[in-house]
Amino acid sequence: MSKTIILSNRLPLQISIENDKLDVTPSVGGLATGLKSFHKDGDSVWVGWPGLTEEEIPEDLKEDVQKKAKEENCVAVHLTSAEIDGFYYGFSNRTVWPLFHYFMEYTESDEEHWQIYKQVNQKYADKILELYKDGDVIWVHDYQLLLVPNMIREQEPEAVIGFFNHIPFPSYEVFRTLPWRDEVLKGVLGADLIGFHTYDYERHFLSSVSRILRHQVDFNEITLPDRIVKVDSFPMGIDYRKFEQAALDHFEKTSETKSELQRRLDHHLDATPDAKLILSIDRLDYTKGIAHRIRAYEYFLDRNPEYIEKVRLVMLAVPSRSNVPQYRRLKREVDELVGRINGKFSTVNWTPIWYFYRSMPFENLIDLYTTCEIALLTPIRDGMNLVAKEYIATRTDKTGVLILSEMAGAAHEMNEALIINPNNFEQVSEALKTAFHMPKEEQMERNKMLQKRLRRYSVEKWAQDFMKALRTTRENRDAFKSI
Ligand code: ADP
Ligand code: F6P
Repeated sequence: MSKTIILSNRLPLQISIENDKLDVTPSVGGLATGLKSFHKDGDSVWVGWPGLTEEEIPEDLKEDVQKKAKEENCVAVHLTSAEIDGFYYGFSNRTVWPLFHYFMEYTESDEEHWQIYKQVNQKYADKILELYKDGDVIWVHDYQLLLVPNMIREQEPEAVIGFFNHIPFPSYEVFRTLPWRDEVLKGVLGADLIGFHTYDYERHFLSSVSRILRHQVDFNEITLPDRIVKVDSFPMGIDYRKFEQAALDHFEKTSETKSELQRRLDHHLDATPDAKLILSIDRLDYTKGIAHRIRAYEYFLDRNPEYIEKVRLVMLAVPSRSNVPQYRRLKREVDELVGRINGKFSTVNWTPIWYFYRSMPFENLIDLYTTCEIALLTPIRDGMNLVAKEYIATRTDKTGVLILSEMAGAAHEMNEALIINPNNFEQVSEALKTAFHMPKEEQMERNKMLQKRLRRYSVEKWAQDFMKALRTTRENRDAFKSI
């Protein structure tokens, strides 16, 4: 029986070792949380890295890692610490990530990292080739694996291969600065169908292909000597029912079954009944605009002191990629900003920012989504931003205001949110005031439209659309060959 093989750098499960025993937790990040529902319902096997280096897993536990992975239809690919350094912390997150998010000043060009990136991509491709049987469909994900499609194609010319990029694709003028731009484009072009979250990323990619590789591009089709490659946009959705149901369950809870976090949130509301909670949730990443957001909040409080004790920013930042210097620097900057602003504005009854630097269980995320009246998401660049969608899905009574950066892919589908430019503090400050005073009827009107769209274009629909388009592309390719 044929199957779908999903490949992403990180598996949806994160393995750690506690007291000589394996512990499994869900991975954080849009790709893992989004694709998990597709994987759960379908006949697929998911290949990826389980989150520990080869050296960190004792010999006698290696088999158990594979067993744990197998329980969830996953196959673990083990990477050494040198591979993780060069491939993951190196080329993926010090070259491609900053470049594709327009942080050119952070982008490094390190030949050794590039060589390791190639080796690790080959390692992933080899694992896929081991598992591959005629008739299988291969779906490769994201910027860590740009070379894999062509590595598979070289060995299995007839394979059906899809590729989806979960981060922005930059404009040609930015992409062209990459020393290995030709190899990267050729790597991706091994796929039959290449998907992006937005039409803009799709156009940028096509423009780079036509200008760098000089291939013929007609609308969204690229003609290679032996086949046609199709490029399209598929904005990723969320598992809407899961978030909606979790919110409904949350409201059913009695005071005894409530989480500790929820009890604290409730207490806060009792203590200052008219204070509104402003939520922000992200991985601690410089692309997410966390430092800008805190500065914009300071700007808001400085110029509008009447909101002191009337609002509170609840900021959850999940540790991420802390071996990369910019992430460590950002951590220090955020710690210092939070300390400074809390020191500057706090009163005996009130702290302006509640800052959590950790991952949280799903239940606590739902507590935050359902309790905070305003969500403030201000990425400087973001491929999609699923948090924005999850916030809206949990607002089952349709109240709540989403303030969202125009730089997030999600903004293209969420016009009813208050859309802002994160670099414009005055605009962010005005949006906070508008959100604070927005009548319930208007909130409900806006969220009704947003929810309708998110419910319809769920993650299941996203995956189905991609798979359907992949099959059609393949049929057209076979027809093209027979001409
Ligand atoms: P990215 O993929 O860049 O991390 P997204 O906003 O698209 O950004 O996705 C983040 C995902 O991670 C969301 O699905 C969100 O629910 C999940 N997430 C964020 N913070 C936490 C956390 N503290 N604990 C668990 N999951 C989290
Ligand atoms: O969305 C981009 C992305 O890199 C995804 O591939 C991943 O789900 C998420 O960010 C988290 O990144 P990492 O795997 O580096 O923790």
